[in-house]
Amino acid sequence: MPAMQITLTRPDDWHLHLRDGAALATVAPFTAERFGRAIIMPNLNPPVTAVDEAEAYRGRILQALPDNSDFEPLMTLYLTDRTSADEIARAAEAPHVHAVKLYPAGATTNSESGVTDIARAMPALEKMAELDLPLLVHGEVTRAEIDMFDREQVFIEEVLAPLLERLPALRVVFEHITTAAAVDFVRASSHRIGATITPQHLLYNRNALFSGGLRPHMFCLPVLKRERHRAALVEAATSGNPRFFLGTDSAPHPRHAKESDCGCAGIFSAHCAIELYAEVFEQAGALERLEGFASHFGADFYGLPRNQGTITLRREPWQPPATLPMGEDTLVPLRAGETVAWRLPREARAL
Ligand code: NCD
Ligand code: ZN
Repeated sequence: MPAMQITLTRPDDWHLHLRDGAALATVAPFTAERFGRAIIMPNLNPPVTAVDEAEAYRGRILQALPDNSDFEPLMTLYLTDRTSADEIARAAEAPHVHAVKLYPAGATTNSESGVTDIARAMPALEKMAELDLPLLVHGEVTRAEIDMFDREQVFIEEVLAPLLERLPALRVVFEHITTAAAVDFVRASSHRIGATITPQHLLYNRNALFSGGLRPHMFCLPVLKRERHRAALVEAATSGNPRFFLGTDSAPHPRHAKESDCGCAGIFSAHCAIELYAEVFEQAGALERLEGFASHFGADFYGLPRNQGTITLRREPWQPPATLPMGEDTLVPLRAGETVAWRLPREARAL
């Protein structure tokens, strides 16, 4: 008999895009229904590069939440070639800034101001290692001759491994890992490295991009990989190894920006994120390990207390809507018009 309901310590999302303005108002409540806290990505346009900007953005997020919400946004700064050691020192002191995000320039959405050469960011990175401010990495190289599907593995060899050798005290989260190479690297590393894993990389392989035709709503970065890699990610997430924890990378874009001749990368999953992870763990016969992955290991890695409350999920199949309104635009959510196996109780949700 499959479990009909599970109760977990309230989970956290260690990698989330909330955007700003009308999009923020649409998406933030979905995350706040499910998660106690989330690490908020700083890739706004323009990016959040200074502590003052992160504080102001945090204020806008709190404004966008329902009145009764106690959801806590954990802010990050966007690393550039010019981020100073002084700004890092301010960030390490700031109560609401928890990490700094490295986007290789050109790797993904709003990464144009990212780091062009890791050597240029070294003063900031050295200061982060000294003050124990975690570095979050989008782990892909961007050189045109490197195949799209190999960019994570090459990043490990060319950037991440040398960085950890040079700064052994630096605490690193390898974000949204997608390959067996990343799993092996994180497992074997003697450094302070953890990794987040998204629902889409656990549930889908790259065939999902081409199933019956081109599927722009399944396009995210790093791009979905082949089945062997998906299986390695499921094994890592459900293994109980505390280095692997939940980070949705929920990344809303308006429908017209996805269904375009140059469609944006990003999958929106916040409306059913913990529900989808429950599917993964159930399929793997490891539902009893969901709580560690979703609610314990990330907080432990960041040195934050685990949440006090709980959430309950029921085994009750439901269909997310085909679209959600997002300001003047619409948003196509993951699993639109398809079935999600687990559900939050009615009193806890809007959908
Ligand atoms: C993210 C976005 O849209 O901001 N897109 C994505 O495909 N994951 C950026 C990112 O995390 O790479
Ligand atoms: Zn992201």
